[in-house]
Amino acid sequence: MGTYKIVTYGCQMNVHESEKLAAILKGQGYSPVDRAEEADVVVFNTCCVRENAERRAEGNIGALKNLKAERPDLILAVCGCMTQQKGRAEALLKKFPFVDIVFGTYNIDEFGLYLQRRRGGEKKVLQLWEKEGPIDESVGYDRSGGVHAYVNIMYGCNNFCSYCIVPYVRGRERSRKSVDILREVKALLDGGIREITLLGQNVNSYGQDLTGEPEFPELLEQVGDLPGKFRVRFMTSHPKDLNERVVRVLAKSPNLCNSIHLPVQSGSSEILRRMNRRYTAEDYLAKVDMIRSALPECALTTDIMVGFPGEREEDFADTLKLVERVRFDSAFTFVYSPRKGTPAAGMPDQIPPAVKKRRITELVALQNRISEQKAAALIGQTVEVLADGEDLKKKGFLCGRTEGGRLVSFRGDPALLGQFVSVRIQAAGLSALRGEVV
Ligand code: SAH
Ligand code: SF4
Ligand code: F3S
Repeated sequence: MGTYKIVTYGCQMNVHESEKLAAILKGQGYSPVDRAEEADVVVFNTCCVRENAERRAEGNIGALKNLKAERPDLILAVCGCMTQQKGRAEALLKKFPFVDIVFGTYNIDEFGLYLQRRRGGEKKVLQLWEKEGPIDESVGYDRSGGVHAYVNIMYGCNNFCSYCIVPYVRGRERSRKSVDILREVKALLDGGIREITLLGQNVNSYGQDLTGEPEFPELLEQVGDLPGKFRVRFMTSHPKDLNERVVRVLAKSPNLCNSIHLPVQSGSSEILRRMNRRYTAEDYLAKVDMIRSALPECALTTDIMVGFPGEREEDFADTLKLVERVRFDSAFTFVYSPRKGTPAAGMPDQIPPAVKKRRITELVALQNRISEQKAAALIGQTVEVLADGEDLKKKGFLCGRTEGGRLVSFRGDPALLGQFVSVRIQAAGLSALRGEVV
């Protein structure tokens, strides 16, 4: 019938939800194209976690103004976290009156309906729910990750870290039933998927909102115990909730990757307190020690922020100290961005941009040095890689990831795609390793 293009911003949650939007579009007979210019329907699935995510989305929506003027039949839809903020959808429509459909994060399952209404002649479809609804298991996903698949185990967040907009745009925690999760994972494995990432804003509180459901460590164990050889990852773990039971399950079950993403945010206990993270730097280090004593090989990755209101030079120095102490395998580093409606946005002592810039540069340089050293330590080792694609930059090479999540490029036959291969590492860089199949 027609064609579509989905433009996605933000986290894995959004990437996965775009797979749902794709399934809905395909269900109505649309097929994907690479460029908005060739599409009959363009969907922007937005993020608002930092200001630059919103700016980028707005820039790209604005850029379609002329296209829409040339082709009034083109349907433009905007959804996701940005539109779910109070009053934001209306403001967006005022700024971009040529947008046809706007909806939020709670009613994504209804996108098909909105599309039909627009095609049926309704000029504008603006649909936002104030609150989250029950979980709908009836809408499927059109997955795009090759042998890798995302599986949602819960939605929403109850933590209200003082800088973060997510709880306001994703609602309270809702867990899926474990039978639904297990059924989905099993079907994916039967269909040839070899790596599953379980998704939630705080996976460690899985099941707390339901009765008679397993808690996260049990769920993880049940997923890992499904038949066959495959990999399971999960994100994100909140440091206050990650416990020894999870680590014991990881140690025991061979299908569970020894790899934990554990966002620390800051190395200063005073900043952590004002972030409402509910752990201190010492608590965090104790968790790291606990993980490393049970699982010495476990990869650890993190998120770190600089420039939170009131962050003094001493606080920032504490962050650098923590980074040196833990030696993360890699880290996502961010500059604090005030989000309207969150407590931190109204706190005194907002940090000037120049100071934020200096701090982020210093932090990135330190983490890059550590990441490089950790990568270099792998040279000469043989690691297991799940071959998941061709290396587009190097003819005859495939790429894949190690259990710890590092990218590896190696010469190999495309017949190896989807398989676990042993690769000896020969060279290491910041973004990727190179090796040979052994
Ligand atoms: N639920 C996850 C991820 C949330 S968003 C967690 O708790 O870790 C991903 C990361 O974005 C956060 O870990 C944080 O480092 C960063 N982030 C969130 N709000 C931010 C803000 N206002 N400014 C800058 N970075 C932010
Ligand atoms: Fe945001 Fe904190 Fe929830 Fe993560 S745990 S989504 S940082 S409020
Ligand atoms: Fe994700 Fe951005 Fe929303 S990080 S949950 S898409 S605000």
